[in-house]
Amino acid sequence: MSRSVKIGSYKLPTNILLAPLSGVSDLAFRLISREHGARFAFYEMIDANALVNHSRTNELLLATTPKDKPLAAQLVGGNDEVMLKAAQMLLKLVKVPFLDINAACPVKKMIQKYSGANLLRQPDMLSRIITRLSAELPLPITVKLRIGYHKTDIKEFAQLAKRCEKSGASALFIHGRTKAQLYAGDVDYQAIKAAKEAVGIPVFGSGNVMTPELAKRMLDDTGCDGVMVARGAFGFPWIFEQIDDYLKTGHYRVIPLAERLKVLKRHLAYTDKYKKIRPGAKLGWMRKEAIWYLKGFPGAAELRGKVGATQSYQELLELIEDVGQNCNTADNS
Ligand SMILES: Cc1cc2nc3c(=O)[nH]c(=O)nc-3n(C[C@H](O)[C@H](O)[C@H](O)COP(=O)(O)O)c2cc1C
Repeated sequence: MSRSVKIGSYKLPTNILLAPLSGVSDLAFRLISREHGARFAFYEMIDANALVNHSRTNELLLATTPKDKPLAAQLVGGNDEVMLKAAQMLLKLVKVPFLDINAACPVKKMIQKYSGANLLRQPDMLSRIITRLSAELPLPITVKLRIGYHKTDIKEFAQLAKRCEKSGASALFIHGRTKAQLYAGDVDYQAIKAAKEAVGIPVFGSGNVMTPELAKRMLDDTGCDGVMVARGAFGFPWIFEQIDDYLKTGHYRVIPLAERLKVLKRHLAYTDKYKKIRPGAKLGWMRKEAIWYLKGFPGAAELRGKVGATQSYQELLELIEDVGQNCNTADNS
């Protein structure tokens, strides 16, 4: 069963979280996830440098509504001074229960700026960032880690986890892959387990949580306090209620295609309403969302090709209607 976990003095209402997902977990994505069982989410990652330099992108990233709560924030940056300034600015704009430091992002742009997963190679700077933010800000500071840069040394990784705790971190979110693995390959449950055993603060496991069974495996094999759902929620917000049901009863509901199409349309409607970007970019975003949902039924691959060719929101909706009608006919025949 999902359960609450304390992060500093904050009582997290669940231990199954929607992960921060740049370019994915916008307001529409979070609302749809919440309607299907997600009880905690993060804003998309915010670049500390961009925030300090007043980039407009951040306004877009910070869109939220009262239903989109509780919601934490995550900052990425490679320097304690800039991170502190950005955090102070951010906390004037949003009210969040805790703030996460990203030491996991493998994107080249971030690595070149000595931030994200590059902090794994700069433990002194990582420690300094945690120490300053946790000493000077009025909320718990957490850290998102990967289990290594090029490869994993379990003992060294457990020491890094311990050092984060000593520096003031109130929880750790651990993606069980190295920076070099990016998003592919096996998740190292043993490394997450070693970190969990080394620290007294809550540890959340991330990596390959694609099904309720894999969520349970993460909990069982690592002894971690909770899990983060990431790609498992792309086009499949039901994963949250499925994990809850599976942990509680050992069973979960299979989602019929008609329901998946209905929720896809709802997801697109949220995107249409909340995504304040230029129309062409918005259509691109919607096509990406539609493609996530259109999987696992006969003709899905061909259909995804057609989604890529749609020229308007209306055309995209008509295409989804057609699938719905064909699948009703097929169901009835
Ligand atoms: C498109 C995409 C964007 C991501 N953005 C972030 C991010 O902004 N911050 C972060 O900490 N992790 C980010 N991640 C990593 C995920 O939170 C998660 O740790 C990772 O995908 C492993 O989980 P999975 O194998 O279940 O997808 C991102 C992952 C993907 C695929």
